[in-house]
Amino acid sequence: MLEWLNLSVRWVHMITGVAWIGASFYFVWLENNLNRVNPKSGLAGDLWAIHGGGIYHLEKYKLAPPSMPDNLHWFKWEAYFTWMSGIVLLCLVFYWNPSVYLLAPGSSLSGPEGVALGIGSLLVGWFVYSFLCDSALGKRPALLGGILFVLLIAAAYGFSKVFSGRGAYLHVGAVIGTIMVGNVFRIIMPAQRALVAAIAENRTPDPALPAKGLLRSRHNNYFTLPVLFIMISNHFPSTYGSQYNWLILAGIAVAAVLVRHYFNTRHDSNRFAWTLPVGALAMICLAYVTGPKAPPSAPEVAPAQAASAQGPSFEKVHSVIQERCSVCHSAKPTSPLFSAAPGGVMFDTPQQIQQQAARIQAQAVTSQIMPLGNITQMTQQERDLIGAWISQGARTN
Ligand code: HEC
Repeated sequence: MLEWLNLSVRWVHMITGVAWIGASFYFVWLENNLNRVNPKSGLAGDLWAIHGGGIYHLEKYKLAPPSMPDNLHWFKWEAYFTWMSGIVLLCLVFYWNPSVYLLAPGSSLSGPEGVALGIGSLLVGWFVYSFLCDSALGKRPALLGGILFVLLIAAAYGFSKVFSGRGAYLHVGAVIGTIMVGNVFRIIMPAQRALVAAIAENRTPDPALPAKGLLRSRHNNYFTLPVLFIMISNHFPSTYGSQYNWLILAGIAVAAVLVRHYFNTRHDSNRFAWTLPVGALAMICLAYVTGPKAPPSAPEVAPAQAASAQGPSFEKVHSVIQERCSVCHSAKPTSPLFSAAPGGVMFDTPQQIQQQAARIQAQAVTSQIMPLGNITQMTQQERDLIGAWISQGARTN
């Protein structure tokens, strides 16, 4: 059930996220491509486009049409649904079983503390962000952007000390996603409603509101690419699985923001064309620094465990895991395929093995997904042995 819930919610999250970001990119594109030469009276510009076999003619008003249309389309539900499905997913994947998925092995936090920290960080993130935007810094967007970047990387560093690599990355993404949807809900939508109301009542709209909305929607625009990376980062253990995962995230975010900046400015000038090769170079450098280094040392052998009267001894299980799994699932994998533990799953210590017993059961006993491609030639007897050990309580002594 959990897996199918996860699948369904993740699917919804992706679909609504595509709709949100797609609409956002499309309107930025419209704005940048508007033909502003000799517009008709009252218009800011217009644009012709062809898509799906039809030709479209769009007009943007300087402020508003003489009378409001009956049917004005708003774009907000895709943002709200992306956030809501994201929160459900956060609960399903990380908060449901915090000791396995959310916390780093040996984390100083208990499960509930980890969950409280995760949820609390979303709230604190929004209030700190909103406070900074409304402060005098709001008038200095470049400085504000720099400060926000440093604060987010500091959050990534903090998360990486107590959360698993995936948990840390996902929480940075969730903090940013919450800020983005907060901007839509608390700032951009109210500003649009005030604008529409003022026009309907023949008043001059307050110019401060759209200006505030503009700063926030510009932030949302720059946030999109880093957030999208974070959401797919689960597939790339050499990023979140590294000891310096927060620094790698910072590097990728800088590359992403640079590239976004080029696409935001290319219609006016090519002054930022250099950001594309620099962004690509940054990715190559990151690939290089996260790659395997010196030949890995042999995995440490834990002291022999006392044999237990009930079920197979941990000693036997331990040696099977070391033989069949640890080439990949170690802080320093000996497999040339991986420079970090895949999935963030490590079996270096008895505690780690014990903590992951349920996942080992799912991956290597109930199903035979692991070892990947049975590359280490695990036998059925060995799977049965591990299954018996887990069913006897997965004891390490
Ligand atoms: C050849 C390398 C390799 C070997 C050997 C290997 N694994 Fe994995 N394992 C992977 C990769 C890659 C993933 C990540 C899949 C993903 O992206 O979620 C993974 C993921 C996992 C996960 C996490 C899956 C999840 O999302 O819950 C578990 C648990 C696991 N492996 C257990 C084992 C066990 C137990 C063994 C030994 C019997 C083993 N693996 C051997 C490569 C390997």
